[in-house]
Amino acid sequence: EMMLEPLLLRFVDLAREITNAQYGALGIVADDDRLEQFITSGITEEERAAIGAPPAGSGLLGVIIRQGASLRLRDISKDSRSAGFPPNHPHMKTLLGVPVVYKDKIVGRLYLSEKQGGEEFTSEDEEMVRLFAAQAAASIENARLLERSQDLAILEERERIGMDLHDGVIQSLYGVGLNLEDCADVVDEDPDFVRQRLDKAVNDLNQVIKDIRSYIFHLRPAAFDARDLGQALFDLAREVRVNSLIEVNLDVAEAGVRELPPDLSENLFHIAQEALANVAKHSRASQAWTRLQIADGVVQLTVRDNGRGFNTSRPGGIGHRGLGNIADRARALGGTYEVTSSVGGGTSITVAVPLEGAYAHA
Ligand SMILES: Nc1ncnc2c1ncn2[C@@H]1O[C@H](COP(=O)(O)OP(=O)(O)O)[C@@H](O)[C@H]1O
Ligand SMILES: [Mg+2]
Repeated sequence: EMMLEPLLLRFVDLAREITNAQYGALGIVADDDRLEQFITSGITEEERAAIGAPPAGSGLLGVIIRQGASLRLRDISKDSRSAGFPPNHPHMKTLLGVPVVYKDKIVGRLYLSEKQGGEEFTSEDEEMVRLFAAQAAASIENARLLERSQDLAILEERERIGMDLHDGVIQSLYGVGLNLEDCADVVDEDPDFVRQRLDKAVNDLNQVIKDIRSYIFHLRPAAFDARDLGQALFDLAREVRVNSLIEVNLDVAEAGVRELPPDLSENLFHIAQEALANVAKHSRASQAWTRLQIADGVVQLTVRDNGRGFNTSRPGGIGHRGLGNIADRARALGGTYEVTSSVGGGTSITVAVPLEGAYAHA
């Protein structure tokens, strides 16, 4: 469910926006009626942690989650089904709850609370959110299907990699081991023999390294066509748009892009890919901009978003190598990498590579 979460969050954010609600939440139920996910918007992570477990079962939200009707309340506490708020829960009075329905099946419910100015939610709010929920249900279902098929593809790929490694690399290394095994026994009597064996072992190991390199190289998805970076960025923007509901604007230079050297194009593509993955995963932005321009012998790629930003002085930590990889790629290309971000003020990543030097005569 990792990839789905930003999409759901975006969906709740938008619903809050169109109804002017201070708080929003989305409960998704699994086929066995378990509350699978409870996404909240309008409270901080700390506030959410202080409230504790999401509403399952007994209270108002638990009871109505599977019901088909919309619910509009002037005062939550006056509803007979209300079990009261847990401690540390922000005060909420007005409520709009709308089922999220996909193909006649209720997959969850969207809740909005505290319309601005203490007003009640209107029937227009209800209507809009219902329409919106239907669209969102379709994208949730799509994302689920996609995720499931990707999970399957990943499993198959793992299986294949495991078998390839076993049949190839491990067999070769086993052979090298055998070759060396009896060397220790004869090292005093027959040093020439041992010398030959060691030479052979070194050669064999070098061959194994080459094999692994080439294997890793061919593991990379071949879908990217280095001759058409513009098209690749276009496809990438579309994919991110569909998977995150973030509006990704694309601005690619008219001239010169097709003439960029293939490996430069490929690196720029991977940089854009990582930067946009971060936008989708971390930013909570509504819009992003991808810009590729060539001016004064410098090709410049910028990925910017209007999301929540982050503190760039804190290192990403183990397992967070995305930005580090972008920086490494930029350096390897003889270019520069710059990230600017402020908490609440969006993020911008720019990589600039001079076309002189290594790429002068491409
Ligand atoms: N566009 C962005 N908006 C908000 N935060 C971001 C953005 N890009 C990166 N970050 C923050 O920087 C951290 C490091 O990013 P990265 O190196 O790509 O690692 P990862 O994506 O695996 O967490 C992220 O965990 C996130 O907190
Ligand atoms: Mg990342």
